[in-house]
Amino acid sequence: MTNAVDALNPKTLHMSVLVTPDMANFSGHMHGGDLLKYLDRVAYACAMRYAACNVVTLSVDKVIFKQPIFIGELLTFLATINYTGRTSMEVGIKVISENLIQKSIRHTNSCYFTMVALGEGNKPTAVPELVPSSPEEKNRYARAKKRRDSNLKAEE
Ligand SMILES: CC(C)(COP(=O)(O)OP(=O)(O)OC[C@H]1O[C@@H](n2cnc3c(N)ncnc32)[C@H](O)[C@@H]1OP(=O)(O)O)[C@@H](O)C(=O)NCCC(=O)NCCS
Repeated sequence: MTNAVDALNPKTLHMSVLVTPDMANFSGHMHGGDLLKYLDRVAYACAMRYAACNVVTLSVDKVIFKQPIFIGELLTFLATINYTGRTSMEVGIKVISENLIQKSIRHTNSCYFTMVALGEGNKPTAVPELVPSSPEEKNRYARAKKRRDSNLKAEE
């Protein structure tokens, strides 16, 4: 479920989901594929809110399953638009896993999605330019630009 207050800030999106037994793998923890599905949905919703048009996933960088996520935990996805090109956007997502009984939280994953805005005929279309203002936003922007430049270079 997304937070309606987020609509006031089109650059961010927060979503929480309870990890239910149907998401378990054979070890009894959350299945990686289920997590990827939620990450993709969050990236899609965050990019679509920002661009106000249809978007598509171009790439996913660096999803690392460092720690298991347990059934019964509450996952919160904190998504931000880090960078915009002409038609593409980088969405950074931080995943926080919360044990509701022990009242403890863990930062379990972070990853970066590149999403492309689509216009008529499903062709890439321009997105509003992101102008980072705070030092944190400027830092995120610079790091996202480096990732984009290195991904594009790797394709040459
Ligand atoms: C996303 C898609 C529409 C892009 O089409 P395209 O013909 O490559 O379009 P472009 O060359 O104009 O590139 C679009 C943007 O992606 C960027 N891009 C392309 N390759 C990139 C890469 N490896 N890393 C980062 N950005 C990249 C381009 O720089 C451009 O961004 P910009 O306008 O901000 O500079 C097309 O690749 C597609 O439809 N892919 C399938 C998407 C999909 O089905 N996703 C779900 C997967 S299951």
